[in-house]
Amino acid sequence: MKNLKLALLGSAAFLLIGCSTSRDYTPPADASGEKIFSSVCTECHKPLSPDVAMILSEKVATKEAITKKFQSGSMRMPAFKNIQGDAADRLADYVLSNSQVK
Ligand code: HEC
Repeated sequence: MKNLKLALLGSAAFLLIGCSTSRDYTPPADASGEKIFSSVCTECHKPLSPDVAMILSEKVATKEAITKKFQSGSMRMPAFKNIQGDAADRLADYVLSNSQVK
């Protein structure tokens, strides 16, 4: 019984670690924010309508916070470390101007 509990705990920890990953995607130099979003973000963030990419909570509704989010990731979201510089700027602009703030 004790062993079973330990085994379950072990696999739960494994799952948590497994979720927080990073992606190697590097955007093409001339990719627009919309292009990057539809290439890698819509896998999880399905646009709500053609004009609304996602719903942002108030504390993430700045370019800095959005950029930090996709470069650092979180427990449940992978980090995109290779979206940098101008591409990161264009992506953050796109997300900010095409999202609803809740
Ligand atoms: C593998 C799935 C996955 C992918 C791919 C992904 N995300 Fe996320 N994202 C999540 C999850 C799950 C959350 C909610 C949990 C959290 O905030 O950490 C989230 C949250 C966010 C938030 C915060 C929203 C809020 O209001 O708190 C932003 C901004 C965001 N993602 C942007 C992006 C961008 C930009 C991309 C593409 C570069 C992207 N995500 C790709 C899963 C993903």
